[in-house]
Amino acid sequence: MRKKVKRCDEEDRSRQGLLANRETRDDPDRMRILLIGCGYTVSVLAARLRARGDAVSAVVRTETSATLLRTRGLSVRIADCRGAADARHACSGAYEAVVFSLSAGGGDARQTYVDALRHVLDALEASPPRTFLFAGSASVYGRADGGWAHETMPPEPVAPAARILLEAEELVAARCASRFSAAILRFSAIYGPGRAHFLDRLRHGEAILPGRADTWMNRIYRDDAAAAIERLLLQTPSETGCAIFNATDDEPARQEDVAAWICGKLGRPPPRFDETAPPTRRRAGANRRLSNARLRATGWAPKFPNYREGFGALLALPAHHHS
Ligand SMILES: NC(=O)c1ccc[n+]([C@@H]2O[C@H](COP(=O)([O-])OP(=O)(O)OC[C@H]3O[C@@H](n4cnc5c(N)ncnc54)[C@H](OP(=O)(O)O)[C@@H]3O)[C@@H](O)[C@H]2O)c1
Repeated sequence: MRKKVKRCDEEDRSRQGLLANRETRDDPDRMRILLIGCGYTVSVLAARLRARGDAVSAVVRTETSATLLRTRGLSVRIADCRGAADARHACSGAYEAVVFSLSAGGGDARQTYVDALRHVLDALEASPPRTFLFAGSASVYGRADGGWAHETMPPEPVAPAARILLEAEELVAARCASRFSAAILRFSAIYGPGRAHFLDRLRHGEAILPGRADTWMNRIYRDDAAAAIERLLLQTPSETGCAIFNATDDEPARQEDVAAWICGKLGRPPPRFDETAPPTRRRAGANRRLSNARLRATGWAPKFPNYREGFGALLALPAHHHS
C-alpha cells in the first residue's frame, strides 16, 4: 500500500509546473466547495473562500461549532462522518471541490481518519468532485534523526496515530485514481491566535521542558495553513491523480533557540530541557526538518515565514487573544 502513495506522488510531480502556472481557476463562476470539518484552520479558509465569492458549505459534528459558524454566515450541516448515513448527509449535493479536515482530538484516530474518510469517499461516488484535498500530518515521516523530510521520501510513521494517517493517505490515493485529482497536505504544528502551546508554557513560567534542547521543531501559522489549502484548491488540474505537499513555514528551528527567543521577549530566563521527561503527545519524540519547497513552487508563500514572525505577532496581541 505504501508504494501506491509514493508512485502516485511521483507521477504527479511532473504536473507541478502546470499547477504553478495556473494563478486562478478557469471557471469564472462561483466554485461550490464542501468543507468536511471546519475548525481552527478551515474556518479561516472558509472566510477566505467566501470573500472570493465561492459557495461554501461546512460540515461539523457539534451544535456548538455549527452555531458559531452560522453566526459568521456559513451554510453548515451537522454530521458525524464516522457513520455512513451521516457521511451521506454531509456530502449530499454537487461540489467542484471537497476538503476533508477532521481531527480526532483525544478520540479514536482510526474512526476519524480512516472510517470517516472511507464513508465520505463512498458518499462522493455518486457525484465526485473535481478536486479532493486531505488535511494530513507530517507525523507520517516518523523521522527522529534531525534530517530533512521531503515528499519523495517513503514515510516511516512510528506513532500509532501517524500510521493511521498514512493509511488514510493511501486510501485517498487509491480512490482518486481516474476519478478526481487529489492533494494531500502534510501539516506541521498549526499555531496562531488562541492556539500556541509552546508559547503558553513559557508564558506560564515553566522552567523545565521535555526533550532534547537541540530537537528540531516545525510549525505553520494558521492563516498560512489556510492559504496553502486555498492555493491548491484554486490550482485544480484537469487530470486525475494525487500529489503530496508538506505544509510548513520556511524555517525549522531547534526548540532551545525558539524558547530562548520567546523568553528574551518575555524578559524571563530560558528554560532547561529534560531529555528524560516523557514527550508531549503532540511531539511524540519527533525530530525532523520539514521542507516546504514543493508547496512554495506552487506560488504559495507564508506571511509568517518563521517562529520569530509568528510568535512576534502573537506576543503583540492583547491578552484576551491568548490561549
Ligand atoms: N492542529 C495541528 O497542529 C495539526 C497538525 C497536523 C495536522 N493537522 C490537521 O489539520 C487539519 C486542521 O486541524 P485543526 O486543528 O484546524 O482542526 P480542528 O480545529 O480540530 O477542527 C476539526 C474539525 O473537524 C470536525 N470533526 C471532527 N470529527 C468529526 C466527525 N467525526 N464528523 C464531522 N466533523 C468532525 C470538528 O467539528 P466539531 O468542532 O463540531 O467537533 C471541527 O470542525 C486536521 O485535519 C488535522 O488533523 C493539524
